[in-house]
Amino acid sequence: MIACIAFLACPDTLPGSPSRRPDAFEHDLLFDAIQAGLGARAELTAIDWRAPLEQLAAFDLAYLGTPWDYTEAKDEFLVRLEALEAASVVVANPAQVIRWNADKLYLRELEARGAPSIPTLWPECAGPDEIAAAFDYFGCDRVVVKRRVGAGAIGQDSFTRAAPPAADWRIDQPAMIQPFLPAIQQEGELSFIFIAGRLSHALVKRAAPGDYRIQSLYGGREVALEPAPADRAAAEAVMALLPFAEPPLYARIDMVRLEGGELAVIEAELIEPYLYPQQGAEFGVRMAEGLLAQLL
Ligand SMILES: Nc1ncnc2c1ncn2[C@@H]1O[C@H](COP(=O)(O)OP(=O)(O)O)[C@@H](O)[C@H]1O
Ligand SMILES: [Mg+2]
Repeated sequence: MIACIAFLACPDTLPGSPSRRPDAFEHDLLFDAIQAGLGARAELTAIDWRAPLEQLAAFDLAYLGTPWDYTEAKDEFLVRLEALEAASVVVANPAQVIRWNADKLYLRELEARGAPSIPTLWPECAGPDEIAAAFDYFGCDRVVVKRRVGAGAIGQDSFTRAAPPAADWRIDQPAMIQPFLPAIQQEGELSFIFIAGRLSHALVKRAAPGDYRIQSLYGGREVALEPAPADRAAAEAVMALLPFAEPPLYARIDMVRLEGGELAVIEAELIEPYLYPQQGAEFGVRMAEGLLAQLL
């Protein structure tokens, strides 16, 4: 019998959805690469993660493809993944991994375990006072402020001492503030894609001129990269620090170079990372093997 695999998605990404985001072409590229890798061994079905539980429970495995709107409903999302596991559906990555990774406080844990990290303040909410204090704390002139539960740079801002936030600007949820790393606009952000704990491929993502966000939604572009041995080792070291007995099926380790030249982890993406299939010729086959191995 061929395996039935759900590719969990959402109205932002499902083909034909009226609210499909302009960057949902990433959904199509990821879906097509994995389906091609699976071939006749499994049927892959894109489906909203909020579909009725009995419909989702009919699948053998639920792969977290493009459920991009989970950041607005983290608890509901986790409850749903746990319900699927309780219904004997294999969830990849598992709900326990998703729970750990859904709050970027995990970065503090990785730092404590020895991962090279970006200095970060963790206010429970952020306003002009927190931003002003961050300039002094870091001794820098530009900061980035983002949500602790977030993705795709949504809700994120960057301020300079010369152009601070307006008096009524606020992030009314747990936030994180970092010094702005200039390397993002020069070298860019490096992504290392791991499947079943092994490096599959790497790439560099650069922002559009004038922007600093590397995501395709803001005009960012990516090219495949043969990483320098030291950079590859830095990403592998982050993988080794993940607090799980087994490496997750998939992981994207995003890194940015600090002024001193070493790569720091900006995100260890274990939930629904875009895995850049166009930059990794073997990606679809490797992911398919990994998914099918979960069903043995
Ligand atoms: N400290 C920083 N310095 C420079 N650019 C940053 C910094 N933090 C984030 N960015 C930019 O914003 C983007 C989104 O931030 P990130 O931390 O990756 O969160 P997410 O991808 O979950 O929204 C990054 O890819 C990068 O382009
Ligand atoms: Mg990111």
